[in-house]
Amino acid sequence: MATSTVVTKKRRAWTTTVFVKQLMAISGLVFVLFLLFHSYGNLKMFLGQEAYDHYAEWLKGDAFVPIFPHGGFIWVFRLAMVLFLVIHVASAFIVWYRSKKARHTRYVIKKNVANSYAARTMRVSGVLILALLVFHILHFTTGTVKTGFTADSTPYERMIATFQSPWMVLLYAVFVAAACLHVSHGFWSAFQSLGWVRSNTRTFMVVLSGIIGGLIFVMFMAPPVSIAFGIIP
Ligand code: HEM
Repeated sequence: MATSTVVTKKRRAWTTTVFVKQLMAISGLVFVLFLLFHSYGNLKMFLGQEAYDHYAEWLKGDAFVPIFPHGGFIWVFRLAMVLFLVIHVASAFIVWYRSKKARHTRYVIKKNVANSYAARTMRVSGVLILALLVFHILHFTTGTVKTGFTADSTPYERMIATFQSPWMVLLYAVFVAAACLHVSHGFWSAFQSLGWVRSNTRTFMVVLSGIIGGLIFVMFMAPPVSIAFGIIP
């Protein structure tokens, strides 16, 4: 009697899709924390020029001295952000590539339509966030793209000059909306990948994700909109 040989690829724990999704989840949750802090920090615009410029100067100078040397925190933060970004994007790519490959095999399990819609939305918003993030850093961090400000302008003056233009408010609204849409799905999905969502907590997590996404949107957009309407002079 002929025996059939099944050749299987050896899978180690860190090459399984479950593990890759956990990496995506943890790096994603780090970004949610960052967005909460960043949008909260930007609200210092409402406290006036001195408070905002002092905050921006502190981040690039005395932040967490003496744990870090003067000016050290911002570079540790940047390095960590790049590392987490590489992990997040690479794991998203691996999951996408594997599901694409699986679709071309004969034994396909018909996927939940809502799931594939969410996954597609995450990919589109993810690519949009990456593109606008490059613009954002060239704009506010390096000052390569100048919108009504000069190289000598302080961080506060750069914000005020930028959001005089309704087009810049719109562009940043698209950027922030893409990030918040990504968070709204990504947050509960991350907890799901970590195995922390049960059937009785699922609705709560979905609602909580929507609230966090909405909160980040409002906190980010409050300063630009207030500048455009002259509430922040
Ligand atoms: C209305 C929305 C936003 C405004 C007004 C804003 C404004 C700023 C400003 C003023 C800085 C500091 C630049 C400096 O003084 O060096 C900054 C840094 C940064 N922003 Fe935003 N931001 C917004 C949304 C976002 C979003 C949605 C993301 C991510 C998806 C993001 C990611 C970053 C990063 C990574 C930095 C740090 C760059 C660095 O110094 O290394 N920002 N942002």
